Amino acid sequence: QTTGVAIIGAGPAGLLLGHILGQAGVPFTILEQRSREYVLGRIRAGVLEQGSVDILAELGLDRRLRERGLTHGGIYLQFEGERHHLDFRELVGRTVTVYGQQALVTDLLEEHERIGSNIVFEAEDVEPVGIAGRRPEVIYTKDGEVHELECDFVVGADGYHGICRQRIPSAELQVFERGYPFGWLGILADVAPSTDDLIYALHADGFGMHSMRSLEVSRLYLQVAPDESIDDWSDARIWDALQTRLGVDGWRLQEGPITEKSITPMRSFVVSTMASGRMFLVGDAGHIVPPTGAKGLNSAIADVAILGRALLDHRAGDSSGLDTYSDRALARQWQVQHFSQWMTEMLHVHHEVPDASARAFRYRSQVGQLEYVTGSVHAKRSLAEQYAGLPF
Ligand code: FAD
Ligand code: DHB
Repeated sequence: QTTGVAIIGAGPAGLLLGHILGQAGVPFTILEQRSREYVLGRIRAGVLEQGSVDILAELGLDRRLRERGLTHGGIYLQFEGERHHLDFRELVGRTVTVYGQQALVTDLLEEHERIGSNIVFEAEDVEPVGIAGRRPEVIYTKDGEVHELECDFVVGADGYHGICRQRIPSAELQVFERGYPFGWLGILADVAPSTDDLIYALHADGFGMHSMRSLEVSRLYLQVAPDESIDDWSDARIWDALQTRLGVDGWRLQEGPITEKSITPMRSFVVSTMASGRMFLVGDAGHIVPPTGAKGLNSAIADVAILGRALLDHRAGDSSGLDTYSDRALARQWQVQHFSQWMTEMLHVHHEVPDASARAFRYRSQVGQLEYVTGSVHAKRSLAEQYAGLPF
């Protein structure tokens, strides 16, 4: 078997890159270790930057997104029981769109199926070989049979736990990372959102957030300890904590049946290079952000846009885009890393700090920071510019 580009991973990054290549007539094959049902069932991110929406529109992949996506012209920042609105349209003339990653993956996959793309689900022992040479291969097993797929390029779109990053020679690769003493407990609930725009709240008990998936489904998050067990969080306890952390005078969070709940740890992680020979990394394979600010999925889309253009330029005889892909993707990513870390530190409570006075100092300086951010047009504009998305 041969193909032009062997894409490992059918998450949003791999599926989107397939469309960019396919529409330009570049042959590609996507190899995914999980089943189709598993990939479609994964519930994760929810906010698309304007640039992400624009790319999907350029590729004609935005029919359902236009029908069902919820455009938001701002967010609320809440602290000390008061809610402050940041109007992105007024500040930077941009918006974001709430559209679940699950819905996006469904749209991308259905379109691949309609046009008959090569996607192999339940591919086992996927292994890129010979990436340092001119003709790499990806070896994998499907239904007990071993396949060798020859290609021009390998793209590692296989997420944080994937294997492609691990195949970059250790002398070429350095990783930069930090953990956080927080996790996010996320729920989906069958109840209309109680807010027009997303609410990010700092409360003495910890961070709380109100997002949504549609006009009928709410998505809510709570800061918890990273090692906390979901079994210790009954539905009643979750609603109680959300009411406390999101509460302001004269407003009440509407409750409804919880249909999904899980806890995600938080980490920041970046590789020193997104390229090795004829293999390129995109998305979570190369970097992870803490979720505050909704940058994970959008970063994956930005990488794919940059790499997709470079691969098409290469076919037209210009390889400079591929040569500089890693540097350009990482330069943007480090700005996004700083933003995600900044939003996280501004809005989460360091319960683990043992000294009560140091803990209180931290909390009060965060309130001071939020007073500044919500009070200064310059600070608001900076937040809005980054939240709505840096160019790529
Ligand atoms: P992925 O979506 O991880 O896709 C990688 C694909 O590769 C998967 O389908 C995987 O099965 C496949 N794969 C892995 N290894 C192999 C292999 N060896 N061979 C073949 N295939 C392989 N971001 C936000 O902005 N907001 C959020 O609220 C949010 N919540 C999240 C919750 C969780 C539990 C997680 C894990 C992430 C969350 N993120 C969130 C981050 C966001 O979902 C990711 O940034 C996004 O999914 C990245 O897309 P990707 O295509 O790079 O990777
Ligand atoms: C969502 C997730 C985020 O990390 C965020 O900052 C905003 C919204 C969401 O899942 O809806």
